[in-house]
Amino acid sequence: MTDLAGKHLVLGLTGGIACYKAAELCRGLVKAGAEVQVVMTMDAARFITPVTMQALSGRPVFDSTWDAREPNHMPHINLSRAADAVLIAPASADFIAKLAQGRADDLLSLLCLARPIARVPLLVAPAMNREMWAHPATQRNMAQLAADGGVLLGVGSGWQACGETGDGRMLEPPELLEDVIAFFAPKPLAGRRVLVTAGPTYEAIDPVRGITNRSSGKMGFAIARAAREAGAEVTLVAGPVALPTPRGTTRIDVGSAREMLAAVQHHADAADVFIATAAVADWRPDAAAEQKIKKDGSGRAPALAFVENPDILATVASSPRAQSGALFCVGFAAESQDLAANAAAKRERKGVPLLVGNIGPATFGHDDNTLLLVDAHGAHELPRAPKLELARELIAEIVRRAFA
Ligand code: C5P
Repeated sequence: MTDLAGKHLVLGLTGGIACYKAAELCRGLVKAGAEVQVVMTMDAARFITPVTMQALSGRPVFDSTWDAREPNHMPHINLSRAADAVLIAPASADFIAKLAQGRADDLLSLLCLARPIARVPLLVAPAMNREMWAHPATQRNMAQLAADGGVLLGVGSGWQACGETGDGRMLEPPELLEDVIAFFAPKPLAGRRVLVTAGPTYEAIDPVRGITNRSSGKMGFAIARAAREAGAEVTLVAGPVALPTPRGTTRIDVGSAREMLAAVQHHADAADVFIATAAVADWRPDAAAEQKIKKDGSGRAPALAFVENPDILATVASSPRAQSGALFCVGFAAESQDLAANAAAKRERKGVPLLVGNIGPATFGHDDNTLLLVDAHGAHELPRAPKLELARELIAEIVRRAFA
C-alpha cells in the first residue's frame, strides 16, 4: 500500500495508556509509505519506550527541546518545517489544554506552536478517561483547537483501562490510518451526497431460514470509503455483511430487498450520486412462514412460491431527479460471460448513464477485481487491482461525468 507515499509526518505521543496503540499506528503509517518522525513527551516515554518507536519508525525519536543532534539546536523548527502534517496520537487532556492555550514547555507542544499553521496541519487523536473527556474544560479546549484550525479525529467508546466504560478511548490504529489517508486525499466531492448500496439481501423463508447470495459487500464498502475520502457525505445501505463500517460514513443495515428499497428511497431525494453495488435477490418467497417449516416425513420438500423483488436501481433511475440529471445513477452488473454486451444491454434496461460490469465468480469474496465501465460512448476497462484502488478510480470517473 502506498497511500501515504511521499508524506512526511511527525507522530507525537503524549502521556496515556493509549501509547501502546501508537506503536501499531506508527507501523501502519510506515507500511502505507509515510516517513514518520516520532516525537514523545517525557510522560509518553513512561508508557512506551523510545526504543520501540525508533525501531518501528526507523528513525531516532526526539523527546527534548534541548536535543543537541540538530546542528542549529532547533529541533522544533527543523521538525515542523519538514512535516506535511503533525499527528498527535494519543493526545492527553493536558496536552490538548496546552495546545488550546498556545503553551510550549516541551518539544512537542513547542513544535506544534512553531509549525507554519497554513502549511502544516495538526491532527489530534484524543485519549482519556470518560469523565476527563466529558469535562467542560476539555470540551472547551477541543472547541478552541478546532477554531484554531486543528483537525479533531474523534474518540472511540467502550472499556477503558481505568475500568470504566464510556467515550474517550483513542480510535483504533486502522481507524486513525483510514482518517489520515482520507485527510490527504483530494476532495472533488466536497459538499456532495453519495448514496451506496452494498452486499447481498436476505429473503426470509421462515424465522430461521432464508435465501441470499455470496456477495461479500467489499466492492460497495470500498466505494463508500473512496467517496468519503473524496469529501462526500456518504450513506451506505448495507445488506447482511460482516465488514467494518468505512470511517466517516453513515451506515444503514437492512435485510430484505424491500427494506433496502425503503432505506434508499428515504435518502435518494437528498443524494447527488446513487451507486447500486448491492447484489439484490431477484426473487423472494411469496410469504415467509411465521413458524419454522417442519419436515413432515413424507420425503418431499415443501413447495415454495417466489415473487419478483422490486428493482431498486431502476426505480431510482426513473425518478424525476435522476431523469433531470440532478441524481447521477450508477449500476453494477455481475455477469458470467459476454461482459461488454451484457453490461451495455443492462445499462439501457436500467436507464442509467453509467454501468459497471464485472465477472461474478471473479469478484465475489475477492479483494481485487477488474471493472468494465460502460456509458453512452462505449466501454472502458479498469484493469485488475485491489477493490479500494478500483473504487477510487471509479469515483474519479463519476466526478468527471457528473460534475466536470
Ligand atoms: O438486473 P441485475 O440484478 O443484474 O442488475 C444489477 C444492478 O441492479 C446492480 O446495480 C444492482 O444493485 C441493481 N439491482 C437493484 N435492485 C434489484 C436488482 C438489481 O437495485 N432488485
